[in-house]
Amino acid sequence: SFLVTLSSDGRSFEVAPGRSIVDVLGENGVEIQVSCEQGICGTCVTRVISGVPDHRDLVLTDKQHADRMTPCCSRALTDELVLDL
Ligand code: FES
Repeated sequence: SFLVTLSSDGRSFEVAPGRSIVDVLGENGVEIQVSCEQGICGTCVTRVISGVPDHRDLVLTDKQHADRMTPCCSRALTDELVLDL
């Protein structure tokens, strides 16, 4: 599992294996717009403040992967991701 932290208020949430970032944030009142939930459409793209995502989308370029991710399907390579939320 890994932690997702909101840059706006510092709250952190644990994302367990098999859960998505979007699901965990949604059940804590942080809604991210989604459509495909498979990393194809780009609707959920969110900026990454710190941490290294485990990118599992097919929509962002390598360059875009430097500072953004798709929280519907991507995960983390670091213990924590701080997102611009
Ligand atoms: Fe389509 Fe995340 S909802 S890429």
